[in-house]
Order: sequence, then structure tokens, then C-alpha cells
Amino acid sequence: MKAITQDRYGSSEVLQLADIEKPTPGDDEVLISVRAAGVGPEVWHVMTGRPYFVRLMGFGVRKPKARVIGRDVAGSVEAVGSQVTGFKPGDEVFGSCRGALAEYACASAGDESGVDGGGVLAPKPANLTFEQAAGISTSGCTAVQGLRDAGGLQAGQSVLIIGASGGVGTFAVQVAKALGARVTGVCSTAKVDLVRSIGADEVIDYTREDFTEQPPPYDLILDTAGRRSLSRLRRALAPGGTLVIVGGEGGGRMTGGFERQLMAAVLSPFVPQQLRSLIAVDRRKDLLFLKDLIEAGQVTPVVDRTYPLDEADKALTDADEGHGRGKKIITVAWG
Ligand SMILES: NC(=O)c1ccc[n+]([C@@H]2O[C@H](COP(=O)([O-])OP(=O)(O)OC[C@H]3O[C@@H](n4cnc5c(N)ncnc54)[C@H](OP(=O)(O)O)[C@@H]3O)[C@@H](O)[C@H]2O)c1
Repeated sequence: MKAITQDRYGSSEVLQLADIEKPTPGDDEVLISVRAAGVGPEVWHVMTGRPYFVRLMGFGVRKPKARVIGRDVAGSVEAVGSQVTGFKPGDEVFGSCRGALAEYACASAGDESGVDGGGVLAPKPANLTFEQAAGISTSGCTAVQGLRDAGGLQAGQSVLIIGASGGVGTFAVQVAKALGARVTGVCSTAKVDLVRSIGADEVIDYTREDFTEQPPPYDLILDTAGRRSLSRLRRALAPGGTLVIVGGEGGGRMTGGFERQLMAAVLSPFVPQQLRSLIAVDRRKDLLFLKDLIEAGQVTPVVDRTYPLDEADKALTDADEGHGRGKKIITVAWG
């Protein structure tokens, strides 16, 4: 089968379109005929091995442990292992897997997976294309876990989503609205219309306005971009409000700016606000939660653009910028 492989860490030149053996599912695994795969900063970090601490999260210290890159997936079940009862050949699925940038990939049939684990699958929303479904897992689960679990978002609360136009942010705006929040999104000028179109009540163009100066106090801030200081973010947070740090690019080669997350944990017990960080996991119950919202018309994945499999290097180069507009999707020619 065709797959995008990497034998060393580096920029997108390390990627190769290779012919490799089709994977065989384990007893508790599903083999997927991949139709589309989603990429974003999370795949870029695995490709480059940067920041370096990413390598310690199970991806391989000197070189990548996994040869085929990519995680978010949509496709149909080709075969199932002997212990699998929840899926059968022909089922259309979405979620995460091992090595999504390939014609075939294996995924765990379990309920939860860490960042370097075997993935999680759920039935594809009936109203989505494979391309739309392929971009959901990482960004959608991150948005749900950031808002609902870490953020404790309640109906009627006001939430500020920083990076509202990106992979995580476009899900977060829509999920927060579905949970009954009043939503303000932060993005740059060219994406104001997009963020408004997906349901934000207010949009702040960060190139023209500083939301930390005399802000209305937000009950919850979901921070996915810009790496603003904790003191500036706290100025925009209501007393008793919650900050959830998801990420943000440009934080340096060693730690990627993770010190901000560590500082939040140290500071949080001493201030009236809750300062939290999120490391999202793929969970089937969150995929099903998103599927319900999507089928009810409350969430629609935003696809930035699609690339054929042999242009995966271009998609990963584009994902480097930290200025995504929804999700980048690799379409896998199949059948
Ligand atoms: N903690 C976790 O478990 C977890 C999970 C997934 C992702 N992440 C991380 O979360 C971050 C966001 O991921 P993503 O997939 O959403 O990335 P993305 O698709 O590249 O989106 C980033 C968005 O941030 C906006 N942005 C850039 N600079 C900004 C600034 N100064 N202020 C406000 N917005 C700004 C960009 O819009 P403009 O072009 O308009 O600036 C872009 O739309 C990444 O660092 C990623 O690694 C963490």
C-alpha cells in the first residue's frame, strides 16, 4: 500500500511517499481503508520532533518510533481482530489511528487513547463527507475536554476563545454555543467573517484590538494561540473564572513554551481564578458527543483545504505556520 513515511525527524523533506506492507490488525484492533486524514500542528510536532519534549511523550527520542505519520482519520472498516465486537467490515468510521497518512491503517477498538496510543473510533456522522469527518478527532476532543471538562462551562456563561479560527478554535466556538455559552472569538482580520459564520456572538480582531485592555470579564478563557502571558490573560478573566491553556505555537525548540503551563499550575492555588492546562486524549464518548452535535446541525467541521496523499509534505509545511483556518485534510485515493 502507499503511505507517507518518515525515518528521521525534520521538516517536511523527511516525508516520503513509499510502498509498504499493509498493516495487520491485532486481536482488539480494526483495519481501516483510509479515505481521508486530518493534519495540523499536532502532526507537525511529531514530524519535526519539536519541541524536543514531544519526543519524551512516547514518539521516540532519537528517531520516530512510528514509520507512518498521521493520526486523525475517516474511512471504512476493512477487517476486524478476533476480539472486536463493536465494528464490522463496511462500517464507516472516524476518529484516530496509528499511521493515518496511508491507504490502510489500524486503530484500537477501545474507548480511550493517549497521544501516542492506538487511537479510538466511532461511527461516522451520517451527514458528513469523509473529508469533513477526518478533521474531527484531535481538535474536536480538545475543544470538548477544554470547555466542558477542564473549563466546567455552564449555559449562560461568557467564554473567550483565543485562536477561534483554527482547528481547535472552530470546534470550540461551535461546541461552546451548543453548550449555551455566550461566545467571543479572537482571530486576525481575514478570519473575522469565518468566526462569525460559525456562530460567535462577538469577534475580536487581535491585530486591531487588545482584548486584555478593559475587557468584559469572561467566565472562561480557552487559550489555543498567541501565548499571551498569564498576567494579561488573568486581566480578562472574571474573579473566580477559569483559564484553560490548550497550546500556542512559537514557544522555542526545547519546551515549546510549556513553562507557561507549569507556571499556571504553580500560581493557580494562590489566585482567585482557576488556571489550568489541558493535554487532551481521544475518547469514544467525546467522539459520540460530537457526532450527535454534528447530526443535529449544531457543529459543522471547517475544512481549510484538501491535499492529495502525495502532497502531504505541502500540507505539513502549511500546518507549520500556526495560522490554520479550520482543518487541513489529506484525501487518500482509494478503491
Ligand atoms: N493540549 C492539547 O491537548 C492540544 C491538542 C490539540 C492542539 N494543541 C495545540 O493547540 C494549538 C492550536 O492548535 P490548532 O490545531 O487549533 O492550530 P491552528 O489550526 O494552526 O490554529 C491556530 C489559530 O490561532 C490563530 N492565532 C495565531 N496567532 C494568534 C494570536 N496571537 N492571537 C489569537 N489567535 C491567533 C490563527 O489565526 P490567525 O491566522 O487569524 O492568526 C489560527 O486560526 C497548537 O499549538 C496545538 O499544538 C494542543
